Amino acid sequence: MNNLKGKSAIITGSSRGIGKAIAETLAKEGINLALAARSEGPLKETADEIRKKYKVEALAVPTDVTKLADLENLYNKTIEKYGKLDILINNAGVSSQYPFEKQPIEDFERLAHTNYLGYVRLIRLAINDMIKRKSGAIINMVSGSTLCDPLPRNFIVYSSLKVGLRAFLKGLFWEVRDHGIKITSLLPGVTDTDLTGKLKEVTGDASRLMTTEAIENAIKFALTVPQNVCPLEIAIINQQTPWTKPVIPFKQEHPNK
Ligand SMILES: NC(=O)c1ccc[n+]([C@@H]2O[C@H](COP(=O)([O-])OP(=O)(O)OC[C@H]3O[C@@H](n4cnc5c(N)ncnc54)[C@H](OP(=O)(O)O)[C@@H]3O)[C@@H](O)[C@H]2O)c1
Repeated sequence: MNNLKGKSAIITGSSRGIGKAIAETLAKEGINLALAARSEGPLKETADEIRKKYKVEALAVPTDVTKLADLENLYNKTIEKYGKLDILINNAGVSSQYPFEKQPIEDFERLAHTNYLGYVRLIRLAINDMIKRKSGAIINMVSGSTLCDPLPRNFIVYSSLKVGLRAFLKGLFWEVRDHGIKITSLLPGVTDTDLTGKLKEVTGDASRLMTTEAIENAIKFALTVPQNVCPLEIAIINQQTPWTKPVIPFKQEHPNK
């Protein structure tokens, strides 16, 4: 998209963390936003902040992405307000870090609905109008953990759903590219947000974690490449430096050793 000013975007999971950082990045470019997350308070605060700071429209739509009716409401409210959806940023996600035998059984459905079905369903709601208009960018927060084989210890349900999501998105790219729609997967490494949770204890030193800056730059890149180019996947992985150790040990030794 050459000129981002005046475009419209939905960003799920935009009340904090990576989603909020992306919301600010898009607002700086003059893009009007529909922000979605479950907790109404922080979501409205974010929308108010963005409206004041960047002089763009920012609609706060309390949404639970695990509920189809909420996704329909989010999409419909966005169309009511902006007339069309140019950019969909699927970002809402939850983590669950357990050795598999200790993972609560309820976690599986919650993870599948948030991190996989929430993305697929919202894309399905948005895609027909994008096909009609021969235009649209759908950017999705997958995970750098999908590059690990075997998947990182204690993250296997989370990561395997992200592997499935990544495969779906790659397939979707081939299905819709001739309609002018761009599908991009972002594969971030371990980033300093609430979701990182216990990994912060594992890493001990916050300087090993990435900030959201590189992800924000990747989003801008994905939205500003020439019309006939689509960055299908962008992986932004923690770099080991002379002063940091790997965030997830490569050999994945058993923690008891
Ligand atoms: N942080 C990392 O290291 C990392 C690495 C790779 C990939 N990712 C991915 O990046 C995405 C964002 O993660 P983050 O680190 O920014 O997480 P975060 O700081 O925990 O923020 C998650 C956001 O998603 C929202 N959310 C959670 N469940 C939701 C639901 N059911 N419906 C609607 N919104 C929901 C949260 O708001 P409410 O709780 O109010 O709903 C919040 O706004 C996730 O998909 C995650 O898997 C993160």
